[in-house]
Amino acid sequence: MRLTYYGHAAFSVETKGKNLLFDPFISPNPLAAHIKVADLRPDYILLSHAHGDHVADVETIARQSGATVVSIFEIADYYAQKGIQSTHPMNFGGAWDFDFGKVKMVQAAHSSVFPDGTYGGNPGGFIISNEEGAFYYAGDTALMMDMKIWGERYDFRFVVLPIGDNFTMGVEDAVTAARFLQAKRVVGVHYNTFPYIEIDTEAAQRAFQAAGIDLLLPVIGETIEL
Ligand code: NI
Ligand code: MN
Repeated sequence: MRLTYYGHAAFSVETKGKNLLFDPFISPNPLAAHIKVADLRPDYILLSHAHGDHVADVETIARQSGATVVSIFEIADYYAQKGIQSTHPMNFGGAWDFDFGKVKMVQAAHSSVFPDGTYGGNPGGFIISNEEGAFYYAGDTALMMDMKIWGERYDFRFVVLPIGDNFTMGVEDAVTAARFLQAKRVVGVHYNTFPYIEIDTEAAQRAFQAAGIDLLLPVIGETIEL
């Protein structure tokens, strides 16, 4: 599995020959000014929730790529109404077999509304599994006991967790989340984009290291093999 980081909580994972793009917020992010949104051609766009810092480039990328938008019912419906050709609605606890593997949509502890005020359903995360392994993207969330169940059920190659604090888990809770998930590799996202979520990344690395967990913080535009 190959992960490319696009800044904030935007990243793609290539697995089984398909490109999955998560939470594209790229063009409004000055830190990601070198990422060319016009070049992105994912097969799927998976959305954790409807906040602007997760959906800013969805319409542009969905239209130029024909990607299928996968999200909770209300978000999939929102994009279908906007004329996006291919959408796949889900909800918590439900799984579906796609051509790249199984997607299970799970709950997150956060909020969710579109920038235009449209109700975005409830915020979620995704567990993706296939023959190459399994990974979890938490979306924006607080620490939840639920993560323990998923840690017992799946052998995660890696998990993608928010670490920026204030709007989501901070480092301390993310370390506990990684323990609950029994994950040895964490890709940290949702930090250092705005003043509210600025963190000391070296202290974060040390905190994870002390727990025997690798915290990976790819630079924006970097691709890592996981
Ligand atoms: Ni959010
Ligand atoms: Mn967010």
